[in-house]
Amino acid sequence: MKLFIKNIQQLLQVEETPKKWVAGAEMQKLPAIENAWLAIENGKIAAFGKMNDWPGIVDWRNLKVIDATGKMVLPAWCDSHTHTVHAASREKEFEMRIKGKTYEEIAMAGGGILNSAHKLREMPEEQLLADAQLRIDEMIAYGTGALEIKSGYGLTMEAEIKMLRVIKKLAEQNPIPIKATFLGAHAIPAEYRHNRNAYLDLVVNEMLPRVAEEQLAQYIDVFCESNYFTVAETKRIMKAGAAFGLRPKIHVNQFTAMGGVQAGVQHHALSVDHLEEMREEDVRVLMGTSTMPTLLPSCSFFLGIPFGPARKLIEAGLPLALATDFNPGSTPSGNMQFVLSLACIKMKMTPAEAIHAATLNGAYAMDLGHDYGSIAPGKTANLIITRPMESFAYIPYAFGSNGVDQMIINGKVHG
Ligand code: NIG
Ligand code: FE
Repeated sequence: MKLFIKNIQQLLQVEETPKKWVAGAEMQKLPAIENAWLAIENGKIAAFGKMNDWPGIVDWRNLKVIDATGKMVLPAWCDSHTHTVHAASREKEFEMRIKGKTYEEIAMAGGGILNSAHKLREMPEEQLLADAQLRIDEMIAYGTGALEIKSGYGLTMEAEIKMLRVIKKLAEQNPIPIKATFLGAHAIPAEYRHNRNAYLDLVVNEMLPRVAEEQLAQYIDVFCESNYFTVAETKRIMKAGAAFGLRPKIHVNQFTAMGGVQAGVQHHALSVDHLEEMREEDVRVLMGTSTMPTLLPSCSFFLGIPFGPARKLIEAGLPLALATDFNPGSTPSGNMQFVLSLACIKMKMTPAEAIHAATLNGAYAMDLGHDYGSIAPGKTANLIITRPMESFAYIPYAFGSNGVDQMIINGKVHG
């Protein structure tokens, strides 16, 4: 099966030499070919170039041709931080926040993560799977072509395993890559409120070996935050995860800068995510490391908390990734286009910087950079063909509307 896309107004994020990520000032420029063609064979990008230099089609058998006149073609979004599997929405908390309650106050009053965990424990696996599939269908329609999903709404052995099995089934039944992260340390469940060490023991000594044995996760996560898990506890869990080959991708500095970034760097985290509260030393410690800072602007938007310091990170020469954080409490949306709009409007990233952060850098943050996140020969053809537009800046500019015309997944037209 071959696909040939011709007359592409701009083919974006093309790579001559494969890069692991794009950082600092380099993010300003989005490599592009004007008036381009792209050839795909067996699901992989085979070749591309300028229409003027097109060598012509030799073999028309099994070939589908798409005319992309006036449209952009770019790699599909790589959403490296989500909680796409969850049991129910939380509009009651939404209303409480509108009336002035904070995320913390709502959690103290029986809402928050524990509310979600309560509901997830009751929900049958089939229902969780069906609901998450609907969310993924919508995410792909908005341009997502690779995804990470966390557990963390079970908080018992049985319910965490149930969540991770659902994520595994989603990975099997979807055409896009889905990576799984074990987030047993998302909150201390109510039944362990007066005995948090017993819960940590359960996560480290029982849940983690079972997750590893059943090969249910590639990464380990902790919500390192006041009233959730301390830096010392976070280190303990990262160390335990490493013993089973799970690299950390952790929640840090969402409400409190308390040393979570340093802990992540020390334990070679693949990414440190949230970063709404960053001190100078938290930015500095990331320099020269292999850890991807990941910002989640739709969480800031929804909770009304500060936006991550994208400009400071970029000015320090660092890369950064953008992700949705899709979850029922702080970000009830898996729309990466909206994330790009917020990155530009609220964090002052340019459209080119935002596209780098949402493609190649997101792919790095889930170890998928070798095969996704850019237009390069041999990479999997998970692509967005946009609606006709003047320039790629229209994608974040026209917030709220869907700029995707067609999705190409594994070299085939999706949907
Ligand atoms: O990434 N911060 C921790 N976890 C989620 C929110 C969890 C919830 O409120 O259900 C987040 O924002
Ligand atoms: Fe999250």
